[in-house]
Amino acid sequence: ESSVIVAIDGPSGTGKSSTSKAVATRLSLGFLDTGAQYRAMTWWMLANGIDVKDPVAVAGACDKPLIVSGTDPQGPTITVDGADVSAPIRTSEVTAAVSAVSAVPEVRVRITELQRTIAAEAPGGIVVEGRDIGTTVLPAADVKVFLTASPEVRAARRSAELKGKDAADVAATREALVKRDAVDSGRKASPLAKADDAVEVDTSELTLGQVVECVVTLVEEWK
Ligand code: C5P
Repeated sequence: ESSVIVAIDGPSGTGKSSTSKAVATRLSLGFLDTGAQYRAMTWWMLANGIDVKDPVAVAGACDKPLIVSGTDPQGPTITVDGADVSAPIRTSEVTAAVSAVSAVPEVRVRITELQRTIAAEAPGGIVVEGRDIGTTVLPAADVKVFLTASPEVRAARRSAELKGKDAADVAATREALVKRDAVDSGRKASPLAKADDAVEVDTSELTLGQVVECVVTLVEEWK
């Protein structure tokens, strides 16, 4: 049995997490949510009074928190200095600050290192989802997928996800999402981008099951 590395990139609201978890479960692979790592770093900065708008302060502090990610697709865990942060990293405060923190090159170097170690140590292989996995973190990944969807569809999915947790409506969600993507795509340090050899899948008109099927087929073709 060969060990496969699957990179799934794309902007928010394209179904990256749901797709990646389902593919990993189907194929008995590990799963890594790299957005959660940037969120954990951002949560720590906010909790420790670091000005997230100040790249020098962020760069100077970013090797202090110990971020540990579990790779079980059924119950992915993330801790900072031993504390479970899976809930607090999803608040609107963290979401609003995460793009600024993840644009800082020192933050990316540190988190990219964590990601490469986790991928190299995953027995049997892993599905890694993010923004720059196929281009920068794991350019030698065996299967690369780039998920897209129209801004309308993405905003509708995100606000359905947030329902009950946050008072965001579709219009506000769409605005926040477009803004975050613009920062993520426009930054100098490994921006959100499709790798030349990634397969692009527009999920606007597809169900989650169809997207999962499509990625599973790509992995099986690789085997
Ligand atoms: O996927 P999620 O919405 O949780 O990602 C949160 C943020 O983390 C993104 O908006 C982006 O700023 C950052 N991120 C990144 N590189 C990755 C994954 C996420 O810069 N590989």
